[in-house]
Amino acid sequence: MCLISSISQLITGKTRINSKISIGGWVRNKRHSKLGMSFIDLYDGSCIYDIQVIANNKLSNYEDEILNITSGCSLKIKGIFKYSPKNLQKYEIYALKIKIIGWVNNPGKYPISSKKHSFKYLREVSHLRSRTKIISCVTRIKHNIALYIHNFLHKKNFFWINTPLITTLDTEGSGKMFRVSTLDLSNIQYTKNKNIFKKDFFGKESFLTVSGQLNLETYACSMSKVYTFGPTFRAENSNTKRHLAEFWMLEIEIAFSNLEYIINFIEKMLKKIFKYVLNFHEKEIYFLSKKIDNDLFNKINKILLNKFNIIEYTDAINILKNCKEKFSNIIRWGEDLSIEHEKYLTNKYFNNAVIIYNYPKNIKAFYMYLNNDKKTVASMDVLLPDIGEIVGGSQRESRIDILDERLKNFKLHKNDYWWYRDLRKYGTVPHSGFGLGFERLISYITGIYNIRDIIPFPRTPYNAKF
Ligand code: 4AD
Ligand code: MG
Repeated sequence: MCLISSISQLITGKTRINSKISIGGWVRNKRHSKLGMSFIDLYDGSCIYDIQVIANNKLSNYEDEILNITSGCSLKIKGIFKYSPKNLQKYEIYALKIKIIGWVNNPGKYPISSKKHSFKYLREVSHLRSRTKIISCVTRIKHNIALYIHNFLHKKNFFWINTPLITTLDTEGSGKMFRVSTLDLSNIQYTKNKNIFKKDFFGKESFLTVSGQLNLETYACSMSKVYTFGPTFRAENSNTKRHLAEFWMLEIEIAFSNLEYIINFIEKMLKKIFKYVLNFHEKEIYFLSKKIDNDLFNKINKILLNKFNIIEYTDAINILKNCKEKFSNIIRWGEDLSIEHEKYLTNKYFNNAVIIYNYPKNIKAFYMYLNNDKKTVASMDVLLPDIGEIVGGSQRESRIDILDERLKNFKLHKNDYWWYRDLRKYGTVPHSGFGLGFERLISYITGIYNIRDIIPFPRTPYNAKF
């Protein structure tokens, strides 16, 4: 059986025109004409195109079955593959045989009818939403970008490290982690007695990781250029379009590099990804620009063609303080920027991507390199218009005495971080890295500004239904 994607490739070779082919797929739409002909739009998710199948009333099951086909039915078709005489589609299939594989029970109640559905509605039927053209389109783009990133890094001599999802350390120090335990919750008051975790599965209080970074650093300090790409978990009660409790992050770690190096690296890498999307997914971006955001090509080109604006945190604060915009969140040196501040900088002031670096040490994690001013750390965030932060990174603190001081300030126990500290004791090197939120990246590229529509089965507060 052919996939629709392979048919479109075959047609360029012109080998299969007027020959017999078999395909399988699901009905998007159907029309029955009074002249004894039916037109069925079939999809199989392999590419952006549906294919039109033409069935005439000479087919043996025309009256009994084909006339009763509805959206969502699965079919197997044998037919002649032809150029389409009309310009609506490039080619079509004249059916010789149509086998109905699966009917739709109660078609009036089929959740994915051929009409337009809102994203909000589709989230309620996440198990069926990949049947829509938009969600399958996002899924293909996502797949190819992930492959592109792996290839890009491979060509640059990075190694993919599978960092653990279960951990005993809180990398970001936010305390918002999901517990992993086999203890019987109904019988234990374990919050009062930390010793209880000695009896737990790992013999220690354990969690789902918020970042693979600390483990990744161990390999960076032996294999030079490494990355990890996988799910990460945050138990923050953030009900926003940019937050998931489970999201995918690409984390990169480079030995013998400093903050400046990774700032340049991420700008180059993002531009490569955006260029790839325009070259490889032009049709999909065109489709999404018609359906979602008619400025999408401009938004992608904006990132691609312009130099990122690189400013220090202190300068960002001054810009925000001196502008005429009314913000609801406070702007004060030492406070984190909120999304309204980020959006002002990206959408209005610079009208493009912004990289902010050298944040105050108290609002960033313990592992970031302390600058000479002793007030800021060598950190950076990449902000894109509309969605704000998509990358967070830093040079890592490679000096053991300062690292120990920082652990103390954060009220973290040195002994818990013994292996992380060992990296600073045995052949320490300056090294730097960053984490790129994968769903946020795809959100910008597709113009779908709620990342719950980017991940197949979103995990958010009170929602792990599917
Ligand atoms: O800025 P974050 O918290 O950085 C880290 O976790 C570092 N350990 C990364 C590193 O240096 N190796 O997260 C990195 C990125 C953010 O910029 C954002 O794009 C994304 O991860 N992110 C989220 N995406 C979706 N839902 C959430 N709750 C997210 N939290 C962070
Ligand atoms: Mg961050």
